[in-house]
Amino acid sequence: MNNRRNWLKQVSLGAVGLGFCQFEAFANTSTENDIFPDVEKSPILLRSNENPYGPSPLARAAMQKSINTSNRYGWDLSDELISLIAKKNNVSNNNILLGAGSTEILDLVLQYTALQKGNFVLAETTFNYWTFPSDKLGIKKITVPLTSDKKHDLAGMLKAIDTDTKMVYICNPNNPTGTICEREQLVSFVKEASKKAIVFVDEAYLDFTKEESLSNLVLENKNLIITKTFSKMYGLAGARIGYAVATASTIEEISALKSSPNLSISVVSAVAAITSLKDEKFIEQVHSSNEEVKKYTIEQLTKLNLTCIPSHANFVYFSLDNYKKDYFKQLENHNIQGTKIYEENGKWTRITIGTMKEMQQFIEAIK
Ligand SMILES: Cc1ncc(COP(=O)(O)O)c(C=O)c1O
Repeated sequence: MNNRRNWLKQVSLGAVGLGFCQFEAFANTSTENDIFPDVEKSPILLRSNENPYGPSPLARAAMQKSINTSNRYGWDLSDELISLIAKKNNVSNNNILLGAGSTEILDLVLQYTALQKGNFVLAETTFNYWTFPSDKLGIKKITVPLTSDKKHDLAGMLKAIDTDTKMVYICNPNNPTGTICEREQLVSFVKEASKKAIVFVDEAYLDFTKEESLSNLVLENKNLIITKTFSKMYGLAGARIGYAVATASTIEEISALKSSPNLSISVVSAVAAITSLKDEKFIEQVHSSNEEVKKYTIEQLTKLNLTCIPSHANFVYFSLDNYKKDYFKQLENHNIQGTKIYEENGKWTRITIGTMKEMQQFIEAIK
């Protein structure tokens, strides 16, 4: 364990020693600016809210080295990652469960809830791919419309909870709308709703805000589960690392649905996450770039007379109601992948914030 820790330290120090710019060369990518390697791809991917800059330079180097240890199981690395995550969230190791992306956590929580039979409540419109197996699992889905400004209707969701409700899901910030719940309101919602059901808060995009996680509330609330991911801010969507934060007993109960909890991430992924947590400079840079490019995108969409919802994430939700051309054809013609219409009424769609260059190309494409 100690040897491996030292090895990780060496990898990190080596990475620091090389310096940020040399990392770009190491990653063998052209540079869009002095800071980020430009992960230039064809087509332009503005579909899945991925980070266009990541993985971080330190993570890339550490991942490459860790390939050599892929003949071994990653128990120790999982333990180390859990410790770092617990520290970051001010909880203990037994409050954390790792998943292969937060999708695994979403799946597990759905299965866990379904075992208790009944229903679960979520917003319409929100991130809902993980709910697709609900029919097969025998749990009913109850949806509550968003408010007119595309926020979670917390009062409405509280009302929708009935005696059969086993879980209520809040995506904060919400995907696809980018809206965020006001903290005080969310805290009081959690307090009330968790008296009746599990409150499951998905903080996949909270890293893009300066808001505090609700993870500090889990220790006093057995019915609160938080899920987070390394896929977005940390640029590790393909590495598949996510986690749950909950009371030790809740973590134990969810973990019981798995034969080998915490073993679904690879050695390379664990190393990526461990190293990424140490690369604060990269996170700051992603944060400020996202803000700058998002501001540009919203300004340009607004100039095109397209209504945008203020976004607290790395994507923008906007209406195609005033758009005269065939939006999807325009994207296709310019080899850009966007996503679908989420709400027919208002023709609301979402675009991921890529690099500045990508967003300039996107704006040109739809002009
Ligand atoms: C709100 C939200 N939660 C969870 C996920 C799942 O991400 P991952 O499984 O990569 O952690 C996504 C992916 O887009 C998402 O938007």
